[in-house]
Amino acid sequence: MDRKKFLTSTALLAFSVTVLGKVTPEKETFKGDCETTNDILGPFYRPNAPTTQDLTHKGLEGQRVTLKGKVFGNDCTTPLSGALVEIWHANSKGEYDNETEKFHQRARWFTNENGEYSFTTILPGKYKNGDLYRPAHIHYRVTEENSKELISQIYFKGDPHIEKDPWASQSKAEHRTLPIVLEDINGSLTVNFDIYLAKK
Ligand SMILES: [Fe+2]
Repeated sequence: MDRKKFLTSTALLAFSVTVLGKVTPEKETFKGDCETTNDILGPFYRPNAPTTQDLTHKGLEGQRVTLKGKVFGNDCTTPLSGALVEIWHANSKGEYDNETEKFHQRARWFTNENGEYSFTTILPGKYKNGDLYRPAHIHYRVTEENSKELISQIYFKGDPHIEKDPWASQSKAEHRTLPIVLEDINGSLTVNFDIYLAKK
C-alpha cells in the first residue's frame, strides 16, 4: 500500500474516513495513511545526547553513511521545522555506548525550515537478542510541539536477520526497511527516511 493516499473517489472516501484517516471536505480529498509506524524503544535510550549532525570521530570503525530525510505533519505534506530528531545505534561491533560522556553513536538535531534533518554516522553492527541476532537498526525518537511523540526504528533491505526478528518482521516495519543507496561515484552511502508524525 502506498504511504501517501490522495483519494478522490467518493466510494473510497467513505471507507477511508472511518478506517484510515481524515478528510478535507471542501476538496473531497482524503489525506492520511502516511503516519510513520512505531517500534520498541529498547533498553538503550539515553536522553540529552549531543546536539550534532556528526556521529563520527577519529578511529571510529565502520562504513560511513549519511542518514537524511524530512519530517512532515499529519497532512502528509507539510514539512515541520524545529522537530527534534534523536537517533541512537550500536557501533560496528554491535555495542551501545551506555555509559561514557562521549555518547558515541547518539545524537539529536532539529529539522530546518524545510523540515529536513541529516546525520553522518556508520552503519550499525548487530547484537544478540537471546539466541538470535537483531537485524542492524537505528533507533529514532522524534518530538514536535503539535505532534505525537514517535519512537521507532529503521532497518536495511536485504538484512538476513529481519525475517526472524519479532519487530523488524512485522508488516508495519516494511516502510521502515530502507535501501542503502550508493549516492555518488565516490562510494558515499545514504539512507533516506522521511517521517510522518501524527497530530497530538
Ligand atoms: Fe537497538
